[in-house]
Amino acid sequence: RASEFAVPEAYQSRTPPYAKLIQNLNTVKKIVDNKPLTLAEKILYSHLVSPEESLASSNGQLSNIRGEVYLKLNPDRVAMQDASAQMALLQFMTCGMPSTAVPASIHCDHLIVGKDGANDDLEKSIATNKEVFDFLQSCGEKYGIQFWGPGSGIIHQIVLENFSVPGLMMLGTDSHTPNAGGLGAIAIGVGGADAVDALTGTPWELKAPKVLGVKLTGQLSGWSSPKDVITKLAGILTVRGGTGYIVEYFGEGVQTLSCTGMATICNMGAEIGATTSTFPYTEAHKRYLIQTGREPITKAVDAANNQHNFLRADEGAQYDKLIEINLSELEPHVNGPFTPDLSTPISLFGKTTKEEGWPEKVSAGLIGSCTNSSYQDMSRAVSIIQQAEKAGLKPKIPFFVTPGSEQIRATIERDGLIDTFERNGAIVLANACGPCIGQWDRVDVDKQSTDSNAIFTSFNRNFRARNDGNRNTMNFLTSPDMVTAMIYSGDMHFNPLKDSIKLDNGEEFRFQPPTGEELPNSGFIKGREEFYPEAQPQPKPDVEVNVSPESDRLQLLDPFKPWSGDELSTNVLLKVEGKCTTDHISAAGAWLKYKGHLENISYNTLIGAVNKETGEVNKAYDLNGDQYSIPELMIKWKEEQRPWIVVAEHNYGEGSAREHAALSPRFLGGSVILVKSFARIHETNLKKQGMLPLTFAEESDYDKISAGDLITTQNLRDMIAQDGNNGGTLTVKVTKKDGSTFDVLCKHTMSKDQVEFFKAGSAINHIGNLKRA
Ligand code: F3S
Repeated sequence: RASEFAVPEAYQSRTPPYAKLIQNLNTVKKIVDNKPLTLAEKILYSHLVSPEESLASSNGQLSNIRGEVYLKLNPDRVAMQDASAQMALLQFMTCGMPSTAVPASIHCDHLIVGKDGANDDLEKSIATNKEVFDFLQSCGEKYGIQFWGPGSGIIHQIVLENFSVPGLMMLGTDSHTPNAGGLGAIAIGVGGADAVDALTGTPWELKAPKVLGVKLTGQLSGWSSPKDVITKLAGILTVRGGTGYIVEYFGEGVQTLSCTGMATICNMGAEIGATTSTFPYTEAHKRYLIQTGREPITKAVDAANNQHNFLRADEGAQYDKLIEINLSELEPHVNGPFTPDLSTPISLFGKTTKEEGWPEKVSAGLIGSCTNSSYQDMSRAVSIIQQAEKAGLKPKIPFFVTPGSEQIRATIERDGLIDTFERNGAIVLANACGPCIGQWDRVDVDKQSTDSNAIFTSFNRNFRARNDGNRNTMNFLTSPDMVTAMIYSGDMHFNPLKDSIKLDNGEEFRFQPPTGEELPNSGFIKGREEFYPEAQPQPKPDVEVNVSPESDRLQLLDPFKPWSGDELSTNVLLKVEGKCTTDHISAAGAWLKYKGHLENISYNTLIGAVNKETGEVNKAYDLNGDQYSIPELMIKWKEEQRPWIVVAEHNYGEGSAREHAALSPRFLGGSVILVKSFARIHETNLKKQGMLPLTFAEESDYDKISAGDLITTQNLRDMIAQDGNNGGTLTVKVTKKDGSTFDVLCKHTMSKDQVEFFKAGSAINHIGNLKRA
């Protein structure tokens, strides 16, 4: 009954359409003969455009759906951060629609530099990025998209505070979109072209993920925190272990966690490659909804859960993999450097530091970001600072705090936490990403320095050069508690659980475990009104969205060319060695500036990649042996109309959902990427841009291919004629420079829709063709 789920009008666009979802779910249940479903399956399958059509081939077996079926889904909402929103909206504009098909929001967070403190940094960043912010704002006004301006907060924190609701399905143009799973949503990080699917009301396609169950038992205590659940899990599963899975938490331990703690855990599910992560509805969720001004929807949420069993797994639901973590035995972990799955329990960290030859000293501590900037995180950090202050201790290293939103900042200011931070030497940065995304104008260490230095952060990602642009900065990821304790020691061997610090008076000081409030006792306050957008903006078709042809920040898009109908013939431009993340393929930092200008940002393509044949970074060789930077050679070959292919190793494109990592290679004339394995989002992004992602059927064939080889597909036309068949094999002929040839068997995962993208030249071309038809 729709009346069970009635909410006041002002909340309708922020409440999942429970009546429709539950009706859909009942159809799904019939198709699978009432087999028990996991929570992830319930939320995902209830968003199917047509359960009958999508699940027709399942024969009633869940195992025939998971990892097999391409689902066509109707997401409820889209969120976009400023860096990725530019390209998402430039692509959306080419479809010629007057407004978005689902509610959407834009968040200005990635382009804000962190250096001196919130006010100065914000003012400078607004001036530097004015053209981009104006473009995003005008798109928001024209198409009726909520615009959260610079300083309002970090996308995932704002989504948690305003939009995430149990049972919601949303897409976000940022890889940490799964943060919203902390409040029981299925929230998936995608590229701009995927976001355009949802924005245009085109069904969004996803291969049904498998479900990895994580059973939490016991209860956290002392120094252990939700961050340690995910840093430990990353150590168990590695950066590839979650690929193709939704991680679903369950067990009695879940009931002991705060909503924001669950968000931290879901946030970093991105670091294990998971499609997303989610939690069942708990009392903590209800408390959070009420405290964040959404009490009027809790009746509907309760009805969905209590009367329809929608927001938790069915009794007896089966997981494809199962891991158990006892929270009572969980130790704080420190992960890094350079990869988020190198996980070390704090009790072994000092010893490991010695063995690995990591720096002896910590050079800076940073807390906050979308991962760890909740009231609970901040109040626990302050409880550590207060102990140190009382003992007369001063921080030994620079310390930065990034609040996640204006609501958090204003509330911790009211409650005296900001005062405590600043009195103790911390620099409180703007409510934005700042140092987490390379927007750290760091002054204490030279960017070009070749000496290693170690930083402790409560962030989620730690690839080289991620934070300060310095490849030698080792970022160790841990809880805000551990970072805060560490700033008073500055020594990599310090274990706050058992070591003491010598005070000036000769006495030994030991920290007591941190304490904090799950939610502010006096409730949240909103803070400065100017940071809040109109609640339900209406599209204004008369608003002009201006993009100057002279701009070096923004550039309207020209469509990519459709497929010629012939087999592809391409030369190997580069054979990449080892890890190749989206940071290697499309560097962030200073390049963030050009996110809306495809030509200019493409000068960063693969500049972080290591050439397998020479060991050099950003070096490639023309057919006659002349050396170029990688993008220079791509540009040269594009001008010569010589399509190219890149060959690489495992988990190619892991890391953020950066669609420029697919757009730029395509723009510069790339046609195929052939690797040992792909990160899921990147593989999809390549397909959306009309490229052909292939994997080696036999990994050892990677060794047989060299730069300069000519690679010709043998049965591409057959594959296209069969509409991709949802994956299969494709043979390529390799011609070496000496004229010798051999065949290599490759695999592809092209679905019918993705074949259409390939034929049209890109997904956007295909959607535009459909909308114009
Ligand atoms: Fe921003 Fe870092 Fe999160 S870049 S969205 S704070 S991962």
